[in-house]
Amino acid sequence: MKGVILAGGTGSRLRPITHTGPKQLVPIANKPVLEYAVDDLVEAGIDEIGVILGNKGRDEIQEYFGDGSDWGVDITYIVQGEPLGLAHAVGCAKDFVGDDSFVVYLGDDLMREGITELVEDFNSEEYAAGIGLQEVDEPSRYGIVDVNDEGDVIQLVEKPDDPPNNLALIGIYVFTPAIFGQIESLEKSRRGEYEITEAIQGLLDDGKRIQSHVVHGWWKDTGKPEDVLHANRLVLDDIKTSIDGTVENEESVTGRIELGDGSVIEEGAVIRGPVSIGEDTTITSDTYLGPYTSIGDNCVIDGAHIESSVVVGESEISAERTIVDSLIGRKATITANHEKKPDGERLVIGQNSSLEL
Ligand code: G1P
Repeated sequence: MKGVILAGGTGSRLRPITHTGPKQLVPIANKPVLEYAVDDLVEAGIDEIGVILGNKGRDEIQEYFGDGSDWGVDITYIVQGEPLGLAHAVGCAKDFVGDDSFVVYLGDDLMREGITELVEDFNSEEYAAGIGLQEVDEPSRYGIVDVNDEGDVIQLVEKPDDPPNNLALIGIYVFTPAIFGQIESLEKSRRGEYEITEAIQGLLDDGKRIQSHVVHGWWKDTGKPEDVLHANRLVLDDIKTSIDGTVENEESVTGRIELGDGSVIEEGAVIRGPVSIGEDTTITSDTYLGPYTSIGDNCVIDGAHIESSVVVGESEISAERTIVDSLIGRKATITANHEKKPDGERLVIGQNSSLEL
């Protein structure tokens, strides 16, 4: 079985973070979102992966994953161009998958327990597709599915105004090549996209069977800044301590931390895990890092108090302020204003930034 990761989205809901890099490479506990999908596919035994790319972030994604050999897989890049919907993206994989069944993974999703069970469970003799489901709180925001007592899907509807239940498609699908015929006959939905949910409904309408698999363990879509922070908390909840850098005084640290190569936690700093710190980052003696914080590579955190936040990387944060629930993009600096007059915050803020002061 092959794997297909959909990584064509533009990341508009993550601006300004996505002004300096694609959303697929936004780090969650210092690992790009898309790498979680690659790791899950590898864990499920898949060794050929097609990554569907949009116009944005193409080069960076290819540069990061290369030919896949660092992950022990073959990666083929397929350009979707303009994002016209999930079905359009899946359709772009037709030549890549050939006659095989294949798994489709939405590239901005994270799943705690991976996808191995779902992939192993799929019975391609009897079913034309298999879908991952989970109960959600706001069913009208998702594709919603009705299943019978045997777990066979009986109906799918995308973002229903009046949801029949709260079992949602979570962005993991297994398809046989039968899906391509359905994709070719789709019309655009009311949101102007070719919907994979409608293509699966088409299989049902043609009398094919669709298998369902309820996924346990959390699942998170990382479309918005608050989702990135939430995903970061969920992932940090599971980290184990691993220290490749230097902790000058062990008493600085309580709880679990990850500390990358070349990073230093200076004597006097206070770190309360779970915290993840990337490579070549310095945490100075006056700094406090509280639970659920990830600091990327090549940062200097000098005297700030930071909690429940993500600092993407290459930042200097030296203002003696408390920063909470924040997502700080690459190369951002937050320094102290030492001028007495005029007193006040001095800001150079780019388009789509948001500040709560
Ligand atoms: C897409 C799918 C939807 C699914 C959701 C999961 O929605 O169309 O069926 O429930 O992903 O994240 P979108 O994120 O495009 O709104």
